[in-house]
Amino acid sequence: MSRSERINFGSRLGVVLATAGSAVGLGNVWRFPFMTGHNGGAAFILIYLGCILLLGIPGMISEFIVGRHSASNAARSYRRLANGTPWMVIGYMGVFTSMLILGFYAVVAGWCLQYLFASLAEKLQGDAAFVSRYFADFSSDPVKPALWAVVFVLITHVVVSRGIRDGIEKASKLLMPLLFVLLVFIVVASCMLPGAGKGVEFLFKPDFSKLNTGVFLEALGQAFFSLSLGTACLCTYASYFGRRTNLAGAAVQIALIDTLIAILAGLMIFPAAFSVGVHPDSGPSLIFITLPNVFREAFIGVPAVGYVVSVLFYALMSLAALTSTISMHEIGTAFFHEELKLSRRGGAAIVTVLCCVMTVLCSLSFGACPGLSVAGRSLMDCFDYITAQVLMPLAAFLTCLFVGWYIPRKVVADELSNHGSYDAWYTGLYLYSVRIVCPLGILAIFLHQFGLI
Ligand code: PHE
Repeated sequence: MSRSERINFGSRLGVVLATAGSAVGLGNVWRFPFMTGHNGGAAFILIYLGCILLLGIPGMISEFIVGRHSASNAARSYRRLANGTPWMVIGYMGVFTSMLILGFYAVVAGWCLQYLFASLAEKLQGDAAFVSRYFADFSSDPVKPALWAVVFVLITHVVVSRGIRDGIEKASKLLMPLLFVLLVFIVVASCMLPGAGKGVEFLFKPDFSKLNTGVFLEALGQAFFSLSLGTACLCTYASYFGRRTNLAGAAVQIALIDTLIAILAGLMIFPAAFSVGVHPDSGPSLIFITLPNVFREAFIGVPAVGYVVSVLFYALMSLAALTSTISMHEIGTAFFHEELKLSRRGGAAIVTVLCCVMTVLCSLSFGACPGLSVAGRSLMDCFDYITAQVLMPLAAFLTCLFVGWYIPRKVVADELSNHGSYDAWYTGLYLYSVRIVCPLGILAIFLHQFGLI
């Protein structure tokens, strides 16, 4: 397919909202708050912001350059620029990683959907012990969570198989503003609670005594996950960017939206938690065990508001997850569609079938069949570990080296300046970052993970 035949996003807004949709997900509304809670609040946020600025934005620009230059699925994009050298592996790795992520991410997304319906039907009303039992019973059921996860993959399939403009772009233009409105509504409700000030203070008053190398590296890992770096997702979306899209400008806008939403998610959760005396460092269970009870207690005087907030909260989580699963699905869909010369719907169907199988296995491994494990970790944990801790940082590391050292500088300069149509004054700075700063930063994550620093 030639570049002129290939469809692009229809507008600048479409580019930004679809790509921000990929970035904004459970990483922002679930992972960011519990990591912030765990690592001392504002001090963690400051380091996180530094990571986004110094490593995240240059990393995004690198994937954009590869994708927009080649205007193909991720595997072909890297293959074209790699000229038959082993660098081409990065693209295939990205396709593989995104499918694995979709496998376990859909399980948590399915829980969000189930909680949305449970809160609509007022089934989450009860004390802390009740909510905790509710989660244990639900997640160990052999059928229900797997079914919700499959439903989530099927919803994603419907959007992706409609194509770039009619599916992904339209959905993003609808879902992203809706997500923002819901978020602001819950933030306002949460910040108006008595005692909410302590939560706001926790988020914005840095306590540097909690900082250590581990916190720094966790912030870095979170920045990568949140920006969807290292999965070829940004590369695939950039292949649909028009010739006039300013790559660096788009990266900055997307990073800003992603960070703003993560901080708003903190402002939604911490004030409510502090207002009922819950310390928000309860880890991943925060959203499914701690929060339903927090909402119930916080709004005990006005149960109608408590009901609405809880329903909207799980609607928000489901929307955030959906905009991300769409992007993960699109990587595989574009790959099978273009590489196997299938129709787009055919490509999407292959991804959906593969992901349904993986997501059912992940779901079972979390609850009903703990025997589905590798090296002592459940399959779900395993997928999470291999992707977030190994494959994503590795692909981001290789992409920075590839763009910084291997591909011709002219390609980079042309992509950054749109073939000289404006002054990309930051080109040298960008190259310094991807050649040296980013690879060293990512190397530090690895060494830390393997206990070497
Ligand atoms: N960035 C998404 C989030 O924050 C997760 C994601 C990872 C999406 C990789 C696409 C690819 O939840």
